[in-house]
Amino acid sequence: MAKKGKDKDRAKEKKEKKAAKQTPPAMPEHEKIGFGIVGGGVIGPFHARAITAQPDARLIAVCDVVPGAAEKLAGEFGAQAMTNLDAMLARDDIQVVSVCVPSGLHAEIGIKAAQAGKHVICEKPIDITLDAADRLIAACDAAGVKLQVISQHRFGAGMQRLKQAIDNGALGTLVMGNASIFWYRAQAYYDSGGWRGTWALDGGGCLMNQGVHYVDLLRWAMGPAASVTAKMGTLAHERIEVEDAAVAVIQFENGAIGSLIGTTDAFPGYTCRLEIVGTEGSVILEDGEIKAWNVKAEIGEVGAYGRSKEAKQAEAAANGKSSGQGAADPAAISWGGHAYEVRDMIDAIREDRAVALPGPSARNALELILAVYRSAETGRAVKMPMNPKWRPGIKKTTTLPTPALKKSQPARRVAAKAGAK
Ligand SMILES: NC(=O)c1ccc[n+]([C@@H]2O[C@H](COP(=O)([O-])OP(=O)(O)OC[C@H]3O[C@@H](n4cnc5c(N)ncnc54)[C@H](O)[C@@H]3O)[C@@H](O)[C@H]2O)c1
Repeated sequence: MAKKGKDKDRAKEKKEKKAAKQTPPAMPEHEKIGFGIVGGGVIGPFHARAITAQPDARLIAVCDVVPGAAEKLAGEFGAQAMTNLDAMLARDDIQVVSVCVPSGLHAEIGIKAAQAGKHVICEKPIDITLDAADRLIAACDAAGVKLQVISQHRFGAGMQRLKQAIDNGALGTLVMGNASIFWYRAQAYYDSGGWRGTWALDGGGCLMNQGVHYVDLLRWAMGPAASVTAKMGTLAHERIEVEDAAVAVIQFENGAIGSLIGTTDAFPGYTCRLEIVGTEGSVILEDGEIKAWNVKAEIGEVGAYGRSKEAKQAEAAANGKSSGQGAADPAAISWGGHAYEVRDMIDAIREDRAVALPGPSARNALELILAVYRSAETGRAVKMPMNPKWRPGIKKTTTLPTPALKKSQPARRVAAKAGAK
């Protein structure tokens, strides 16, 4: 019996030693990278989750001009609630600041953080004007800090595979690129925050706020645009200044053509779609998932009239239904992409290398959106590059004759040339 007991003890000791060897000792708190979040609204908690999921990071403080917002988020993650940004930026235990405030304040807050020596993770869009984006990029460069902009859909497996296929020539010469954002936002969404739907702080509507994700993917996949022609309007919402429907035709520098369709009017909210066509194949992504992947080198040439009807039906059936995340509810998005970009920032700091999505790369999507706005405003094709000082005011709007509209429906406004009928 005694021998049996000793054997048991030895086995237990061995097991414990093995476990101790496998689990690395927890990193001392002071060696972890300290984060602060500015803005504790809808997206702040995504950053908090992404930060606290990292074993070598800690969330030190949440700062918000609304004390209750800071307290709620900080309390949930064991961080300190603050309302004074300067006090937060003065802390030595914070190395990275996540900027989660309304879009038109990104550069202002980000520049302050950079000047205080903090690395910056900035929510999308980088800001709402090129001038502001350039000032933020310059401030981070001058301070020698890193600037990572959130565009989480770039890091999904489907988009990464597509980008690789484009870069290694598997799709041949690019011919066409289309992005569509077919989402729905109820009037209550725009009414929920004073800044939503304003030119001054949202900087735009279905493209600048919701659509920027897929505009970024389109621009990243297709390369620089040479010119843009667009139409847009505020067609189904009231009490907003910005567009809720936009359509653009794009001429890319590489000779390819493309389109951009964005709306927050598509009840009850559908998917985001990216279609890339090359001479050697085509790929369709829906909400980040690959819906079609057809590369000639992989499947061989098909008949003179393309695939048979049966083959198309089989592919559609195999693809099933898309989840449409975020299409109707902005809070329904997953935080995995945020975690990827937070992780990348930590590794970039530790390895002293560039981040995955630096400011200039995020600026490209902003420039494309502003070109859409300028074209819709002037009624003319806009040649790139855009003047960094230009900002949309879109004050010149016309009211469409809408006799069939019920009283409760908003007057329709379309961006148009002054005097247009
Ligand atoms: N990546 C994504 O999928 C995603 C999703 C939603 C929002 N966003 C972006 O995140 C940003 C914030 O959007 P939201 O929906 O969380 O907005 P929100 O209105 O819900 O939250 C913003 C918070 O910032 C606070 N704030 C405003 N000015 C401040 C200041 N000067 N200092 C400190 N706090 C301040 C507000 O009090 C509020 O709590 C926007 O730029 C938006 O485009 C990104």
